[in-house]
Amino acid sequence: MNFLRILLFVLTLNALPHIINEAPCYAAGPVDELINRAIREQDDIYRSRGELVPEGYVIDRSLLSYTHTLSQTFDRALEALDKDHRWLDIGAGEGQAILDYFGPRFDAMHPLPNKRSRHKARAVALSIEDRRTARWPATASLLKTGQIQYLSGKRLREYQNGTLGRYNLITDVVGAFSYTRDLTLYMQIALNALEADGNLFTLLTDARPSVAKRRPFFETDTYLTEIIRPDGRSENVCNWLRQISCIEVICNEKSGWQPPVETFHLHKTCEITTVPPLTLTSFVAGTPPSRRFHSEQ
Ligand SMILES: C[S@@+](CC[C@H](N)C(=O)[O-])C[C@H]1O[C@@H](n2cnc3c(N)ncnc32)[C@H](O)[C@@H]1O
Repeated sequence: MNFLRILLFVLTLNALPHIINEAPCYAAGPVDELINRAIREQDDIYRSRGELVPEGYVIDRSLLSYTHTLSQTFDRALEALDKDHRWLDIGAGEGQAILDYFGPRFDAMHPLPNKRSRHKARAVALSIEDRRTARWPATASLLKTGQIQYLSGKRLREYQNGTLGRYNLITDVVGAFSYTRDLTLYMQIALNALEADGNLFTLLTDARPSVAKRRPFFETDTYLTEIIRPDGRSENVCNWLRQISCIEVICNEKSGWQPPVETFHLHKTCEITTVPPLTLTSFVAGTPPSRRFHSEQ
């Protein structure tokens, strides 16, 4: 049934939330060893190369694919950037979308009046593992120094206290938002990195839908991303996002997509973004992983 994901290990973490919420640690003891195995197996996906890359781990989506998935609003937000702006792609894989932004097709599809040439934004690709191909340095060599940058070797959670810098546009297409074990910290860091009036476009696969009723796609009784409220009822991600201060949220379930995809457009309206806390209670490694969180409100 679940041919798109590699299900490596199911873990109920109520007793040990502090362990799974931290960066990988390697402790002794039978339970710890199970936890460590799950984390290592998820890490193996990031480390995989060549034939060992799981089929479902797509790292080379084009900018056209980003636009098709995220919306025309994303396309217009990217088109509106100029040389003083910055774009961050969180979970960028090979960074293909950024490379395409600097390619001739983007210019042909977004012509300026009077054949003026576009002054493009600086763009930063962020990935745990370095997935760059030869096309990255080849493109960088044609651009001004610092126009594109590739950050790897760390997770988003390791860029705290403003170390990422500030961005006018942030994208995340099946990147850290889909893979993180700490959605709250992800949102805090991403929104702190977003300038006021900036836009963040992201998505989730098979999350509990915000509008129409739909059965889970991969499992019979649980969605890939679940949020459980204190009263035991399920919350959808869209409602959770709408509780963040200084953010306008537009959620859109893609019609007819299999597996189902819901997109999220966050527009930052003012500076202080407070994110409601979530605690991870269950984790199934995969591409992307299955996660269950508990909310406090
Ligand atoms: C399935 S690939 C998607 C790549 C690209 N967005 C695409 O669509 O082709 C997942 C990417 O998310 C990155 N990623 C996952 N968790 C992350 C985290 N916590 N912090 C930073 N990057 C993360 C991985 O390193 C990888 O680059």
